[in-house]
Amino acid sequence: MKPELRVGVAGLGTVGASMVRQLQKKSNAFAARCGRTVRVAAVSARTRGRDRGIDLADVTWFDDPAALAAAPDIDVFVELIGGDSGPAEDSVRAALAAGKHVVTANKALLARHGVELARLAEDNGVSLSFEAAVAGGIPIVKTMRESMAGNDVSRVYGILNGTCNYILTRMEQDGLDFAACLAEAQRVGYAEADPTFDIEGNDTAHKLAILTSLAFGCEIDVDAIYLEGIASITSADIQAADELGYRIKLLGVAQRTDTGIEQRVHPTMVPKTSAIARIDGVLNAVAIDADVVGEVVLAGPGAGGNATASAVLADVADIARDIRVPVLGQPVAGLAPYKAAGMRMHEGGYYIRLAVYDRPGAFAEIARIMAVESISLESIMQRDRAGAKAGEAGAPQPVTLITYETTEAAVKRALATISAQNVIAGTPQMIRIEKLA
Ligand code: HSE
Repeated sequence: MKPELRVGVAGLGTVGASMVRQLQKKSNAFAARCGRTVRVAAVSARTRGRDRGIDLADVTWFDDPAALAAAPDIDVFVELIGGDSGPAEDSVRAALAAGKHVVTANKALLARHGVELARLAEDNGVSLSFEAAVAGGIPIVKTMRESMAGNDVSRVYGILNGTCNYILTRMEQDGLDFAACLAEAQRVGYAEADPTFDIEGNDTAHKLAILTSLAFGCEIDVDAIYLEGIASITSADIQAADELGYRIKLLGVAQRTDTGIEQRVHPTMVPKTSAIARIDGVLNAVAIDADVVGEVVLAGPGAGGNATASAVLADVADIARDIRVPVLGQPVAGLAPYKAAGMRMHEGGYYIRLAVYDRPGAFAEIARIMAVESISLESIMQRDRAGAKAGEAGAPQPVTLITYETTEAAVKRALATISAQNVIAGTPQMIRIEKLA
């Protein structure tokens, strides 16, 4: 048997505690699978005395995670602190510089500094593993980096945030409003400490930025991601989507186009018949369109202590087994610069909801403006005059349009022109429709 692998864990929140617990509970089975004993030799966390349901009697305690990272009797540093700077960044850099393998669940850190850290790992001949950083327990990083090595990927997309999926599912299934569903998601413990990170799409963007690099062999560019959250989605949209044969999901999508790579995070209408539409509650799913294998869809728990710890343990097992792969699927020197496709060039169908004044000619004006922009309409749905008094003219009526494939630029121009006419009340709602098999 190879010598024991000594693991140092920084951050003993739900993921860290679960990971230590599993490793202690399954030490024999894990050793058999890895061909060597794997032991938690040291830990670091903010509060020492707390009962976490794990046995730390023979484990060395460090107050400073960077000191743990560089400790000579540690082979692997597991970073579960979180955040794209501060102690997480400092300790990961210290570990790599000291020649330690690093396992992290930190999507923000990788989205910001992934390429630089991958280079540091390469230069020091060690692994930097991050299965837990994207979609929690779903083995999407290994799938993309290792199992898809013979494929060219054209698109990767997914539900990458359980909180948003939970909110949208509850809004749909229970007819609850956004605020009530968000409060419930926080109570259940899925939302980030600051839930705006979830609902405004930043958490999805961090994960998407990493997937984009793995899919297209390019550098990570999180700032280039087009971002729209779910706070503007109303019950009216959810109901209209249902009637039109769609469901609304917050998707992260990275797609190769003729002009570059689109990276976008936004509420998306997906056909009810698609695999991604059937992912409910806090579950995550990732779909990959690739030339050799076709479409691959993985679904599972994207958050939570045990699910995320499962992914961390898989990375530790790879290190114990001496499995080494390039951090981002190929050596950093081979990564292409990220070339963005402008969002205005995005092509697809659109759902548009307008509050149209109920008077002759209003509708004709909207149709005319759409025609000027060469936007062809697939369907038009007008609600009955709920709430309007009989014979009353001018009260806005909800009208839902579905366009055939067009460009983002054309839709934006058309909506700006419509808004400038005296035909609608309020701001138009627009949701992109993802073309799926
Ligand atoms: N807050 C995230 C989610 C979990 O709701 O999916 C960790 O990324």
